[in-house]
Amino acid sequence: MIIGIPKEIMHEEDRVAATPETVAEYVKLGATVLVEKNAGAGAFYPDADYVAAGAEIIDDVEDLYAKASVILKVKEPLFNDAKGKHEIEMMHEGQYLITFIHPASPVNWQMVKDMAAKGVISITLDGIPRISRAQSMDALSSMSTCAGYKGMIMAADRLPWFIPNIMCAAGQIRPAKALVLGVGVAGMRALTTAKSLGAQTYGADIRPMGQESVGACGAKLIDVEVPAELAVGPGGYALRLPDDVLKHEQEVLAKVVPEMDIIFCSSLIPGKLAPILITEEMVKTMKPGSVIVDIAIDQGGNCEITPKGGIEQKHGVTIIGTKNIPGILPTSSTWMFANNMLELVKFMTKDGEIALDMDDEIIKSALTTIDGKIVHAGALEAMGE
Ligand code: NAI
Repeated sequence: MIIGIPKEIMHEEDRVAATPETVAEYVKLGATVLVEKNAGAGAFYPDADYVAAGAEIIDDVEDLYAKASVILKVKEPLFNDAKGKHEIEMMHEGQYLITFIHPASPVNWQMVKDMAAKGVISITLDGIPRISRAQSMDALSSMSTCAGYKGMIMAADRLPWFIPNIMCAAGQIRPAKALVLGVGVAGMRALTTAKSLGAQTYGADIRPMGQESVGACGAKLIDVEVPAELAVGPGGYALRLPDDVLKHEQEVLAKVVPEMDIIFCSSLIPGKLAPILITEEMVKTMKPGSVIVDIAIDQGGNCEITPKGGIEQKHGVTIIGTKNIPGILPTSSTWMFANNMLELVKFMTKDGEIALDMDDEIIKSALTTIDGKIVHAGALEAMGE
C-alpha cells in the first residue's frame, strides 16, 4: 500500500490528513507514505517530522497522485489552480480516496460523478455511522468538538463585556449568560467551554438525550416543550419538526433570548436543512453587543439572518457565520482527524492492503463510488437516481 498525503488546496485550509505520529503507524502497517512538501506546515507539523516518522516528501503533487494507491485528504477533491487541473484529473482508476466528500450536497454532485467516471474508490468520512464500533473513526464528531470549543471562544472574543463574574474596585460585574441550542457533540463542548469561561449556561434540545446532556454540562435546561415522539427518529437522531411545533419552540425561546449575551446555534437534523430557531425579530430583542455564533451555517443556519460565511453586525448583534471553524484550530483538529483516519484505515486493511468488507455497516454507509458507479444511498437519493 502506498499512501499519499497531499497538501490541502482549499482557501485557508490548514488541516492535513496525517500527522507524523500517524505516518509512523502506517509505516508499521507496512505502507510506504508519501507526503507533499509543506502539507503539514499550516498545522505546525514540519516536513522534517514526517521524514523522521518514515515518510518521503514529494515536491510535485501530480507525482504523489500518480504513485499512491490510497489518497488520504481532509476536503473533497477541488480544482488545483497552481496545476491548472482538478484533483480528480490527477487520480487514477482503482485508487482509493478517503476524505470528507458530502456527496449528497448538490455542489458536489458533478465532482462525485467525475470520481465514479474515473474509477476512483471513494469513501466519505461524513458517512461513518455514529455507532460505538465506529467511534474511533468518527472524524465528523471530532470536528464538531473543535467547532463547539473554538466557536464559543470566538463568541467570547467578540463580546464587548466580560464573561465571568468580576469583583473589582469599581464594583461587581455579573456573569454573562450563554444559551446553546442543540446540545449534541458540538453543543456539549460549547456549554463546557462557556462554563469554564465563567458564564451562566443554558441549553435547549428537542431530544431527551440532548436535554440530559444540558444537565451533564452543568447548565440549566430551557424546556422547549416538544414531545419526544416528534423529536426522535431512527437511530436516535433528531427529526424535522412539524411547522406548528417549530413555531411553538421559537415562541418559548423568544422569552429567554433577550436575557442572553451569547447564543450558540448547533441544532442539526441529519441530511436536512437546519431548523430556524432564532428569527430576525428575536435578534432585534437582544442587547446591542451580544453575540450569536451559528455553526449550523453549512446546513443553512439556526438563525434566520446569519451571514453565509464571515461575521456581520445586524440590529446591534454580532452574528458569526464563519465556516470551517475546525480549520482555525488546525493543530488540534488535524491531530484528531488524523487519528480517526488511522483507525479507519486500520479497520479496512487486511495483510497490508485495503480490502473492503462490502457487508459491513461502516463501509456500506461511507462508500461513495466504486466500479465506475455512485453507490452512496444519500447521494443517489439527493440526485433523484
Ligand atoms: P449533533 O447531531 O450531535 O447535534 C445536533 C443537536 O441538535 C441534536 O442534539 C439534536 O437533537 C438538536 N436539534 C435538532 N433539532 C433541534 C431543534 N429544533 N431544537 C433544538 N435542538 C435541536 O450534531 P453536531 O455534530 O453537534 O453538529 C452540530 C452542527 O455543527 C451541525 O450543523 C454541523 O454541521 C455543525 N458543524 C459546523 C462546523 C463549522 O465549522 N461551522 C464544524 C463542525 C460541525
